[in-house]
Amino acid sequence: MSEQGLTITDDRTGKSYRLPIENGTVRAMDLRQIKTGPDDFGLMTYDPALMNTAATKSAITFIDGNKGILEYRGYPVEQLAENCSFLQVAYLILSGELPNEEQLAAWTYDITHHTFVHENIKTLMQAFRYDAHPMGMFISTVAALSTFYAEANQVSNAEARLAQIKRLIAKVPTIAAYTYRHNRGLRYVYPDNDLSYTGNFLNMMFKMTETKYTPNPALERALDVLFILHADHEQNCSTNAMRAIGSSCADPYSAAAGAAAALYGPLHGGANEEVLKMLTRIDHAENIPQFIERVKNGQGKLMGFGHRVYKNYDPRARIIKRVADDVFKVTGRNRLLDIALELERIALEDEYFISRKLYPNVDFYSGIIYQAMGLPVAMFPVMFAIPRTVGWLAQWQEMITDPEQKIARPRQIFVGHPRRDLPAKKS
Ligand code: ACO
Repeated sequence: MSEQGLTITDDRTGKSYRLPIENGTVRAMDLRQIKTGPDDFGLMTYDPALMNTAATKSAITFIDGNKGILEYRGYPVEQLAENCSFLQVAYLILSGELPNEEQLAAWTYDITHHTFVHENIKTLMQAFRYDAHPMGMFISTVAALSTFYAEANQVSNAEARLAQIKRLIAKVPTIAAYTYRHNRGLRYVYPDNDLSYTGNFLNMMFKMTETKYTPNPALERALDVLFILHADHEQNCSTNAMRAIGSSCADPYSAAAGAAAALYGPLHGGANEEVLKMLTRIDHAENIPQFIERVKNGQGKLMGFGHRVYKNYDPRARIIKRVADDVFKVTGRNRLLDIALELERIALEDEYFISRKLYPNVDFYSGIIYQAMGLPVAMFPVMFAIPRTVGWLAQWQEMITDPEQKIARPRQIFVGHPRRDLPAKKS
């Protein structure tokens, strides 16, 4: 008998059961033995939106939502953002340890040398309408990558998995930049292997007539930090989608496209787009009290506030505020920042937000920074998808190699019509 257990008495039968408690959880399958009779299917849990269900064991990311703690592989995100590059953090998230000098050089080389996409990908993207949403283009193009790498479906082959992981991490910035250039009617810019991951991304986005693009080092570093902050966030909506799709052994390109689709929604990665729209609508600090009143009356949400897991200040939002200062030194101050700061100040003093533990999340400030960097609002979810690809892949790999995982297939409580026969045909 396990040391910790939960004793349940079923009032329907008077029978008692002792379920082991491991890691603060009981196994849902242990409930199945609780039956009213031999024909009873057994007890299940009902958990819409999986609010209280651990669907996996994971060693990648730790969050303590009440304390506002976020750690990748044990390292606090604040320390990683301060001292590491995005590619170092990507290696850490994927492999479990920070790379040594040699490993980092090989990893950087591999990622840098997979940034090009097949010319047919370019042709495919050119078929999108001039005003297609970048996220729609991104999702479709990531899915299309699966058609170029036939071995991608060998998901139980570690070598094949690593090849797709490198390709995806390397190619998502290229695809992202192409969506932007497509919308602007600008020619696509090929990757520059002399530049860093984020420096090259800025090159593919903004290079015009210059023969060699030189990224602004402050913006390059700011983007690197933003990418670190967005790299993983344990079992969020899009990661859950990645794992669910991957659990059927679909290739990682198809799974990542599905994850990106989940990220697109305004309650997830689309939130920073909504924040920008909200701040633009508020327009002036004096309109904030009126806006807050409307939110409290249930007429809309304060976008960029609240989180399913954080019931304290999102640690990423704190770092992002510092990044904003660095960016605005280069780009000039974005007037929306003043509205955001005032909105945050007022909301954090308001009983409605205090009692519901609603604090700014990572998206409250990220949009303002991206806008200052010259990115259109529609690109914001794509900017989230680039670094989160690392988290999706690490979680996908963990799922594939976890002997306890099977195809994801929840149960339901059927509330529809009981069996009935079709009306008799009129003769
Ligand atoms: N503005 C106003 N009220 C809010 C907000 C908000 N942003 N968020 C939650 N609330 C209220 C709810 O109305 C509810 O009030 P009630 O108890 O009176 O009914 C209470 O706070 C609890 O909210 P839930 O909806 O139960 O919280 P949940 O965990 O389901 O939702 C979510 C989390 C989706 C993030 C929510 O806070 C939200 O919609 N926020 C705005 C969108 C956003 O910023 N999303 C980005 C999340 S971060 C990310 O994905 C990277």
